[in-house]
Amino acid sequence: MPKIILENITKTFGKAVAVKDFNLIIEDGDFVTLLGPSGCGKTTTLRMIAGLETPTEGTISIDGKKVFSSIDGIDISPDKRDVGFLFQNYALWPHMTVEQNIGFGLENLKWSKEKIATRVRELLTMLKIEGYQKRYPTELSGGQQQRVAIARTLATGPKVLLMDEPLSNLDAKLRTEMRSELKRLHKETGATFVYVTHDQLEAMTLSTKVCLLREGELQQYEPPLAVYHEPANTFVADFVGSPTMNFLEGRGQNVNLDQVKIEADGLNMIFTPVSGSVSIQPRQEVILGIRPEYIAIADRSAVRATIYSTLPSGMETILKLQIGNHILTSVVFGSKDYHLDSVVNIRFTGDRCALFDRVSGNKLATGSLELVEE
Ligand SMILES: Nc1ncnc2c1ncn2[C@@H]1O[C@H](COP(=O)(O)OP(=O)(O)OP(=O)(O)O)[C@@H](O)[C@H]1O
Ligand SMILES: [Mg+2]
Repeated sequence: MPKIILENITKTFGKAVAVKDFNLIIEDGDFVTLLGPSGCGKTTTLRMIAGLETPTEGTISIDGKKVFSSIDGIDISPDKRDVGFLFQNYALWPHMTVEQNIGFGLENLKWSKEKIATRVRELLTMLKIEGYQKRYPTELSGGQQQRVAIARTLATGPKVLLMDEPLSNLDAKLRTEMRSELKRLHKETGATFVYVTHDQLEAMTLSTKVCLLREGELQQYEPPLAVYHEPANTFVADFVGSPTMNFLEGRGQNVNLDQVKIEADGLNMIFTPVSGSVSIQPRQEVILGIRPEYIAIADRSAVRATIYSTLPSGMETILKLQIGNHILTSVVFGSKDYHLDSVVNIRFTGDRCALFDRVSGNKLATGSLELVEE
């Protein structure tokens, strides 16, 4: 079964490096998302797996077979890679009905009329578009068209499905609905999905593994919750999660091997790693990363903050808290609202705050954080 392996893949366009010495193993049956900001090389990577773009260097294998190798001069054409693609502009054929659109690829493969009809029926059911088979694309809503496009891609039963922002043309509600459908399809087909998105929520909710790229370079490749809770660097930490993580720049100093004292523009804190020890240079420049859900309004805490703004949504309230020269974002679950400019006590909770080196941006440790009054 297909396992996709990318080894030392580099792609340059003239002098511009789109993908740089990229290594990735996608296991059979994974749902991997390629995530990152615009221009980071997601589409280029997907197109190289598909065979639509030629890497400048490196090797790609699918299901144990080399489909590209710059050294061996191998470059298997896209139609021989047994992959299906679904792109943002999926353009259905306007002069064909839904069933003709779905069955088109199978006719090309010389399937019998009966076999095609059975497969088309199967796909109509799988994608919940039964009853629409005689309609033309213009007679369908955007979401229905998208389902037909997916059905068309799945028709030949590809073991690998490559998708490039397939939901970006849909409105917010339909997107959410199609996300659930995609996840269900992934399970039902048992295929390996590689999915490009710049939407962190989409990547978090859909994937078995998130692959985060920045300027053509791999930043982290792990399951969504590992990326969320254990971001490898400040770039990943900032890209994943909404509202975004709070960052406090400061200088650190070991109190002992198990604790670091940090001073960040008037705030004094003690960081304790959740496991192991942490050792830093005296007065090393560090960045503390604190997710909004780990800043709690507490009755018993000596540290006070002023409510700078409040955004209650019913299920949760997003607060901006002013503490000295800092503004921190906090999420409080439940329907409680707060008065602007009122003073509350706060504390940091849990043991999932991150300590980063400021210069490299890399994570040094994960742990708990305590505010101390001086
Ligand atoms: N055919 C091309 N010729 C020249 N440069 C290209 C070409 N295709 C892509 N690039 C460049 O390669 C880089 C990566 O592009 P790519 O399309 O892979 O980004 P992306 O991550 O998919 O971005 P987006 O989220 O905007 O779709 C960009 O800097 C882009 O300008
Ligand atoms: Mg793209």
